[in-house]
Amino acid sequence: MAHDAFALDGSVAVVTGGSRGLGEATAVALAEAGADVAPVARSEDELAETAARVEATGAAAHPVTLDVTDSAGIVALFDEVADALGPADVLVNNAGMNPFFGDARDLDTETWEQIFAVNLRGAFECARAFGRRVLDRDGEGALVNVASVGGVRGLPKQVPYVASKHALVGMTKTLAVDWAPDIRVNALAPGYAKTDLTEGVRENESIREDLLTEIPQDRFADPEEIATGVVYLASDAAAYVTGEVHLADGGMAAN
Ligand SMILES: NC(=O)c1ccc[n+]([C@@H]2O[C@H](COP(=O)([O-])OP(=O)(O)OC[C@H]3O[C@@H](n4cnc5c(N)ncnc54)[C@H](OP(=O)(O)O)[C@@H]3O)[C@@H](O)[C@H]2O)c1
Repeated sequence: MAHDAFALDGSVAVVTGGSRGLGEATAVALAEAGADVAPVARSEDELAETAARVEATGAAAHPVTLDVTDSAGIVALFDEVADALGPADVLVNNAGMNPFFGDARDLDTETWEQIFAVNLRGAFECARAFGRRVLDRDGEGALVNVASVGGVRGLPKQVPYVASKHALVGMTKTLAVDWAPDIRVNALAPGYAKTDLTEGVRENESIREDLLTEIPQDRFADPEEIATGVVYLASDAAAYVTGEVHLADGGMAAN
């Protein structure tokens, strides 16, 4: 059989925000492609459910309960994963939040700081810990930062989220240059997918209808349709792809 370029057999993947939503779907998709997976998040019970789904594919799982704003915990995370599964060669920075929907004039500084601490600083500190380990052992790796369509265009009433995702895209491009050729660094930019994060906008009829008029495919994504893009970027199928922003947005950014 020809080499399957999408296969991840022998890989060890860390997926932050792996307790539900896109991170859970990504953990399972990476496991289906052959990777052992460490899902990371704050919710222990939901992480255990993700781990069980990973193990059901035949892969090994090692769930780690961690808040990505805990800098010391991030350093320990990669040592713990190395002990349990082997050194990580795939990192998916997926943990994220979007608690503010409103006019910028009503945004308080504390909320701004909180969003950036999770969406950007947490992603950077995970990337730094991962990069140090991969490069110190003269290894190779793939880093996928889960940005957003809001990382390449504005979205109304979401200024801190959109700013944090644009920054994540900037971080992606620079790390791709700095760490080439050893670590490929790409961003996956989802449009609106059916997860807890978007429940509020999807359940508000007028916002939902306004949004759908902007999405040429006229529907929201299933989490699995986003996760396949992460598998692609993590795998040899994307061997010559680095510094890219891969959109999976039903055409929203093209509109
Ligand atoms: N859904 C979409 O339409 C969409 C579109 C574009 C981009 N995205 C991005 O995709 C990523 C996943 O979103 P989602 O839709 O799956 O959201 P979700 O259902 O709300 O899940 C968010 C995940 O992030 C984790 N998380 C949040 N804060 C954390 C923290 N401080 N430390 C560790 N983990 C934390 C949560 O786990 P715990 O609560 O257990 O910690 C959970 O696993 C985010 O970066 C989001 O911005 C999503």
